[in-house]
Amino acid sequence: MTRSTVRIAVNGVTGRMGYHQHLVRSLLELRKEGGVDLGDGRRLWPEPVLVGRREPALRSIAERHELPYWATDLDAVLADDTVDVYFDAQATAVRAEALGRAIAAGKHVYTEKPTATGLDSALELVRLARSGGIRHGVVQDKLFLPGLRKLKRLIDAGFFGQILSVRGEFGYWVFEGDWQPAQRPSWNYRGEDGGGITVDMFPHWSYLLESLFGRVTSVMAHAATHVPRRWDERGTPYAATADDAVYAVFEFDGGAVAQINSSWAVRVNRDELVEFQVDGVHGSAVAGLRHCRIQHRTATPRPVWNPDLPGIGNFRDQWQEVPDNQPFEHAFKAQWELFLRHVALGEPYQGDLAAGARGVQLAELGLRSSAEGRRIAVPELTL
Ligand SMILES: NC(=O)c1ccc[n+]([C@@H]2O[C@H](COP(=O)([O-])OP(=O)(O)OC[C@H]3O[C@@H](n4cnc5c(N)ncnc54)[C@H](O)[C@@H]3O)[C@@H](O)[C@H]2O)c1
Repeated sequence: MTRSTVRIAVNGVTGRMGYHQHLVRSLLELRKEGGVDLGDGRRLWPEPVLVGRREPALRSIAERHELPYWATDLDAVLADDTVDVYFDAQATAVRAEALGRAIAAGKHVYTEKPTATGLDSALELVRLARSGGIRHGVVQDKLFLPGLRKLKRLIDAGFFGQILSVRGEFGYWVFEGDWQPAQRPSWNYRGEDGGGITVDMFPHWSYLLESLFGRVTSVMAHAATHVPRRWDERGTPYAATADDAVYAVFEFDGGAVAQINSSWAVRVNRDELVEFQVDGVHGSAVAGLRHCRIQHRTATPRPVWNPDLPGIGNFRDQWQEVPDNQPFEHAFKAQWELFLRHVALGEPYQGDLAAGARGVQLAELGLRSSAEGRRIAVPELTL
């Protein structure tokens, strides 16, 4: 077994996603396994180069994990020919510009979503990447969640027959930051800093809906800022200028419809932080992060609307749990592995910058739909 090193600039590694999900739970886990098995007698050894603005924070992460390489000068990292991949988990507003520089420097790029705050710059990144001939990928972690993998299994097995509708509920209460610290960074609530739940979550719904149910052809959304005043990391009050909830209806090519509520101003009264109910002619399923429950047409009870009659039991007890049947890798790590194989071996990779641009497009059209109070068609992007 030979080992080849892939050097990865990890920008935004001091952030929530960059540190926990990408560095610790993905790249360092892959190192614990001896690197990515390329299947041809080689293992690919990820060597992170930590990149950020604050030297003490980088130094502390580097020391904690015994990582020798870190830098505050992105240009120097991009000029380094031994760095193969640029990864971006920075705050959304500063992403597109950094990705553009990395592509121009000839790096393969992998990035958190959204790839940009507007469609024009997302498309420009696609053009740059294609003309530069580099490999590119965008995080699509929700596809790798066990509950949604089980849902995909059901769809592929034809469990639903014709799929009629999808109901999604995503969200939780994000504290305002005064009497309890907020559990999300304050930039999420400022539009001028790339915040807003539509910009944040529609890129997820874009790839998820597309890969499970087909192309989204229209969107109708109502975005709201329910909590107008919040307190930032230093305890200073600020005006929330971005939406913290969005209620949306999406239509698909085949006539099915999805309705998804996304909110940071809702208290959780469901089994998981995200859940999708899919109703088909032959059966229904409710899938979340981990679990997926089904009800087949042959096991469907017969409720009758009559408030005078007692209920026919607890409806939720009438569903059946879908077993795991396979081990599920950590979602972010699984995708890193696929992307690194794509870089090393040229294996196909579905979530590229064009998929990322479709996510940005859906967010942009969702916000326009909300502002104009009308349903908007989602045109196919010509790339
Ligand atoms: N895939 C997912 O499920 C998921 C979940 C949450 C967030 N995200 C995405 O990941 C990205 C990072 O989110 P996060 O929650 O980790 O944010 P965070 O605020 O915790 O981290 C942001 C990182 O960017 C750096 N940064 C560089 N320039 C900055 C600037 N001008 N302003 C603020 N930060 C700057 C910060 O130092 C930090 O390292 C966002 O684009 C977000 O949309 C993805």
